[in-house]
Amino acid sequence: MPKLTIDDTPVEVPDGLNLIEAARLCGIEIPHYCYHPALSVVGNCRMCLVEVEKAPKLQIACNTRVTEGMVVRTTSGRTHAAQRAVLEFLLANHPIDCPVCDQAGECKLQDYYMDYDRQPSRFELARKNHKGKAIDIGGGLMLDQERCILCARCTRFFDEVTQTSELAIFGRGDHNLIDTYPGRKVDNPYALNTVDICPVGALTEKDFRFRMRVWYLHRTESVCGGCERGCAIDIHHHRGRIYRFKPRHNPEVNGYWICDAGRHSFPALQSESRLVAPLRQADDRMAALGWDAALAEAAAKIFEYGRAYGANAIGAVVGARATNEEAWAMKRLMAAIGSDRIAGLSWSPADAPGDDNLLIRANRNPNTRGLAALGIESAALGRLGEAAARGEMKMLIAMRADLARALGEAEFVRQFGPLDYLVVLDTDANETGQMANLVLPIAAYPEIDGSFTNFKGRVQRLNAAFDPPGEARPAIEVIAALASHLEDGAAQKTAAMLAIPSSASEIFARMAAAEPAFSGLTLDALGADGAALNLAGE
Ligand code: SF4
Ligand code: SF4
Ligand code: FES
Repeated sequence: MPKLTIDDTPVEVPDGLNLIEAARLCGIEIPHYCYHPALSVVGNCRMCLVEVEKAPKLQIACNTRVTEGMVVRTTSGRTHAAQRAVLEFLLANHPIDCPVCDQAGECKLQDYYMDYDRQPSRFELARKNHKGKAIDIGGGLMLDQERCILCARCTRFFDEVTQTSELAIFGRGDHNLIDTYPGRKVDNPYALNTVDICPVGALTEKDFRFRMRVWYLHRTESVCGGCERGCAIDIHHHRGRIYRFKPRHNPEVNGYWICDAGRHSFPALQSESRLVAPLRQADDRMAALGWDAALAEAAAKIFEYGRAYGANAIGAVVGARATNEEAWAMKRLMAAIGSDRIAGLSWSPADAPGDDNLLIRANRNPNTRGLAALGIESAALGRLGEAAARGEMKMLIAMRADLARALGEAEFVRQFGPLDYLVVLDTDANETGQMANLVLPIAAYPEIDGSFTNFKGRVQRLNAAFDPPGEARPAIEVIAALASHLEDGAAQKTAAMLAIPSSASEIFARMAAAEPAFSGLTLDALGADGAALNLAGE
C-alpha cells in the first residue's frame, strides 16, 4: 500500500489505483469527464490535470498511478488555471442550451463551470460552430452533437462493453462530432447506459426527455425485478409515480450497468390494470368489498375446508416475483394451517430473450433462487395441480402467480377448474384473477420493504419508495392479517404459529432463525451490495 500526500494530507491507498480513485478514497474530488472506472483510459478531456511534485508538467490524474512518496496537489494555482483553461476550451463552441437542456441538474459541464471556472466567455455567440440537434440515432437515444464534449465514453461503451461499435467520432478539429456510421442505427439491449455515462446533455433518453426536471425526483435504492439477475437500481420518483430506473453500482451483481428492458420495466408497475380494492366474485361479476370482510371470508373458507376435508385441502402457489419475506410468510401460514401443499411458480414468457454474456437472463423472475432456498419448489406445482384436478384440494391461495397465463387457459382450467375456492393476491388484474372467488390487491415491489435473492444467491434489499395505490397493501401485511383472523378460532399451538409479523425486517429475522440458507443475515445488514446466501445451509 503506497503512502503518498494529497493536498498536504498523508494517505495510504491500495497499489495500482489512479489518482482520481486514490483522491476519491480520501474524500477529494478530482474533476473529470472522459475517465470512467469501467472503461479504458483515454485521457482526452484533460479536466483531471493535477500537480505532481517533481513532474515538470501537470499530469492527468486518470492515467497516473499512485507511487510511494508521491506528492499531489489538486487545488494549487497551476491546477486551477488548467481547469479553467480546459473548461473555456470545452465551452468555446458549446450552445447556450442550459435553460432548455434536459441534462440540467446533472450536467458536469454546468457543475464544473460553477465549481472551477465562473469566467465570462470570450467567444462570440454568432461565431460558434453549429452541429446536429435532437437526432434520433436509435436505441431510444437522442443525440445533440453541439452539446457533446467528445469525451468518447459512449464510443468506448459500445466498443468495449456491448462490442457493437455503432458510434464513432468523425471530422477534424472543432468540426469533430459524434455520429453513427452511415446507414447504421444504435441497436443493442444496453444502449441507454450511454445516457447515464454521458457527462453532458448530448445523449438523452427519448422516453424521459422533458418529462420531469431531475431536481424534483426522489431516489430510493432497490433491485430490478425484470429477471433473475436482480440488478441494483435507483428508483427515481415523484408524488407516487416512477419516472425512471437508473443503474446503481453493485460490483457483485451488475457493475455499473442495467439492460434497457429492465430500465423500461417500470411503466408496467403503475399501469391502469393495478388493483386498488379487494374484489369478490358475485353473480359472475367482481364486486369491491372491505379488507375486513375479505379477510374474514378467506379465513372462514380455510376453516370450512380444513374441517371438512383436512388441512391438505388448502394449498398455496407463490410466484417467483414474490419477495423472500412474502414467500416465507406464506410458507409459515401453510405450516400453521397444517398443509404441506405449497409450490413455486417461476414462469417466463415464450418470447423472453435468452441469457446473454453481460446481464440479461432468460428467467424473468427476480426471486426463483430465493423460493428454492426456502424449499418452495416449482417442481411441486404439477403435483399440486393434479391434486386440484382430482378434487383433493378445494382451496388455493395464489400469490403473485398468474397461473392461467403461465399454464395456458385450457390447462389451468383442467388442473384448477375443480377448485371450490380460489384466492388471488396480486398487483394487477389478470386472467387468474378473473377466475378467482376473491382477489386481494397487493403492493408492487417498488412499494415494499423486503429482499430478492438473485440466481447466484445474492440477497439484496428492496426499499419502499412510496405507498401502494388505493387500498392495496403489502402482501406480508395481508398474510399477517389473514393469520390473525385465523388465530381466533385456532388451537393454542396453531395460534402461536399464526403470529406472523407484518414488518419485513421482523419476518426476515424469523426467516433467518428458521431457514439455514438465510442464517446469519439480517435485512438491515444487507447493505447496498447485498449479502450472499448461506450456500452451505441451502
Ligand atoms: S455524446 Fe456524451 S458520452 Fe459521447 S462523446 Fe459526447 S459527451 Fe461524451
Ligand atoms: S438484466 Fe434483468 S435485472 Fe438487470 S436490468 Fe435487465 S431485466 Fe433488470
Ligand atoms: S478524465 Fe483524465 S483526461 Fe479526461
